Amino acid sequence: MIRWFMLAWQLAALCTAWGQECGACHRREADAAASSPMSHAIQRGGDSDTLKRNLDLSFRSGNFSYSIRRQDNQSIYSVTDGARSISAPIEWTFGAGIVAQTYVYRRGGDYYEAAVSFYPALKGLDWTPGHAGRVRRNVEEAAGRKLDMEARRCFSCHSTGAVWSGASVLESLTPGVQCAQCHIGAAQHAAAASRGAAARAAMPKLAAMETEELANLCGKCHPSWADIAANGPRGVPNVRYQFYRLANSRCYDAADTRIACTACHDVHGGLANESAAYDSKCQQCHSSANARAKICPVSTGNCITCHMPKVDLPELHYNFTDHQIRSVRAGDQYPN
Ligand code: HEC
Ligand code: HEC
Ligand code: HEC
Ligand code: HEC
Ligand code: HEC
Ligand code: HEC
Ligand code: HEC
Repeated sequence: MIRWFMLAWQLAALCTAWGQECGACHRREADAAASSPMSHAIQRGGDSDTLKRNLDLSFRSGNFSYSIRRQDNQSIYSVTDGARSISAPIEWTFGAGIVAQTYVYRRGGDYYEAAVSFYPALKGLDWTPGHAGRVRRNVEEAAGRKLDMEARRCFSCHSTGAVWSGASVLESLTPGVQCAQCHIGAAQHAAAASRGAAARAAMPKLAAMETEELANLCGKCHPSWADIAANGPRGVPNVRYQFYRLANSRCYDAADTRIACTACHDVHGGLANESAAYDSKCQQCHSSANARAKICPVSTGNCITCHMPKVDLPELHYNFTDHQIRSVRAGDQYPN
């Protein structure tokens, strides 16, 4: 009798463990997410794909020399002025490494943002945005910037379910933007579904969301049109704020899901890099079957190469894609 009870209890515990794994029932999304940039928006220093490929990085400016070296499955960040030096293991890497990767280490229990970041375009280190002009009177100042309460904000956008105790003690988190960041109520749903009662904890169908509702969801982390309109930045630096740029395009229509972020991007997977992959998205509206949107007099393919120009932000060593879709004429000013 007792043994039966134990067995049933063990089975129930096992099912819960499987149930937590969304992938047991949603294979397609889980497989895609395993390699998506969003799910790698942070990694532990020891796990970082970028750092495993770059075992010895260095950078020098004035008196200060910086290095990141692999040692016993960790990457050690060191800064020296020749006389004194400090070093710390990199605890967290921010950014999947498409645009850049920034390093977070701890000193005296506090989180710091390292002064140098990795840029794929350089295959090496350069200043982290905002650090080039900082005062550096000693190795501590040269090494990085104390994050204080800002650390919580960094982790809340780049990871899932972060739990803090006290001002700066991180108890637990799941690295990366995981299922539950976008699918609210996912844990209860998974628990119910693994008891065979999925209908009791039905999930909202995100595919049915209007473009504006979707904007609220993504806007938790990707700045909204209103954020940028009110607070800037103005000029070329706003090229990376896709909601703002897209909404300023004549293609944009809040009532039309063919121009929602998810029309062009698979939120569960990677970023498609071939320009032709986007043609069919444009042609959802710009085709002879559609009277409202016009047809290109110039070309029938590779639409984004002419109408979504790449714009370089030198501080980030990256060409961002301008989401303000338009006809670009030679000599035009950057519209903002
Ligand atoms: C034991 C299996 C199981 C597990 C585990 C599970 N789900 Fe589900 N999920 C289901 C079933 C069954 C449905 C209902 C499908 C339907 O209505 O067609 C569903 C529906 C959904 C839907 C709505 C899909 C739609 O088309 O209506 C979302 C979103 C979803 N699940 C997300 C998740 C996430 C995120 C997790 C992990 C936290 C998870 N699920 C874990 C079985 C599961
Ligand atoms: C919890 C915060 C968060 C939410 C919510 C979020 N994102 Fe992201 N997103 C990020 C972060 C962080 C990155 C940077 C990933 C990296 O390190 O390169 C990113 C990267 C991206 C990228 C580029 C890389 C890729 O994965 O293709 C796209 C496209 C994107 N997000 C679209 C969306 C859309 C669409 C939504 C809403 C459905 C959304 N995001 C919701 C945080 C978020
Ligand atoms: C409000 C949410 C939010 C906060 C807070 C936040 N990030 Fe991000 N971060 C994002 C999103 C979204 C992206 C992807 C942006 C894109 O590609 O357009 C991103 C991208 C990055 C990248 C990749 C390089 C790049 O510029 O695209 C790094 C590195 C990064 N963040 C580091 C940090 C650090 C360090 C902090 C805290 C000091 C932080 N982030 C705070 C949302 C956030
Ligand atoms: C960045 C936000 C984001 C993350 C993270 C995310 N999803 Fe989704 N998911 C969406 C959006 C938006 C849709 C609807 C549009 C689409 O299908 O592309 C969706 C659709 C789905 C659907 C189809 C049902 C529906 O709601 O339309 C399932 C099932 C699902 N997601 C499961 C998962 C699982 C499992 C994970 C984690 C491995 C996950 N999602 C991670 C945003 C996200
Ligand atoms: C009409 C298609 C389209 C729509 C709609 C769209 N994007 Fe993009 N997006 C692209 C293309 C094309 C790229 C560049 C892909 C490449 O060359 O790597 C891109 C790149 C990105 C990147 C990577 C950074 C960069 O500049 O390369 C992010 C992040 C992103 N988009 C987020 C979004 C968000 C958030 C939305 C919704 C506001 C959105 N996108 C809507 C086509 C689109
Ligand atoms: C939701 C439907 C829709 C989608 C998707 C869409 N457009 Fe448009 N687009 C429009 C409408 C409507 C206009 C305004 C009428 C016109 O000029 O055709 C427009 C205007 C334009 C213009 C002229 C605008 C100007 O200011 O010069 C260009 C160029 C253009 N679209 C290219 C594209 C490209 C390239 C894509 C894909 C990356 C795309 N569109 C995706 C609906 C759309
Ligand atoms: C080689 C560059 C190039 C490519 C590739 C290209 N276009 Fe164009 N497109 C242009 C130029 C230049 C104009 C402006 C023509 C003019 O104003 O006389 C234009 C105009 C347009 C217009 C406005 C038409 C009007 O009557 O106002 C639309 C819409 C458009 N393109 C959509 C697209 C779509 C969709 C694709 C992909 C199927 C595409 N373009 C591919 C260069 C290109």
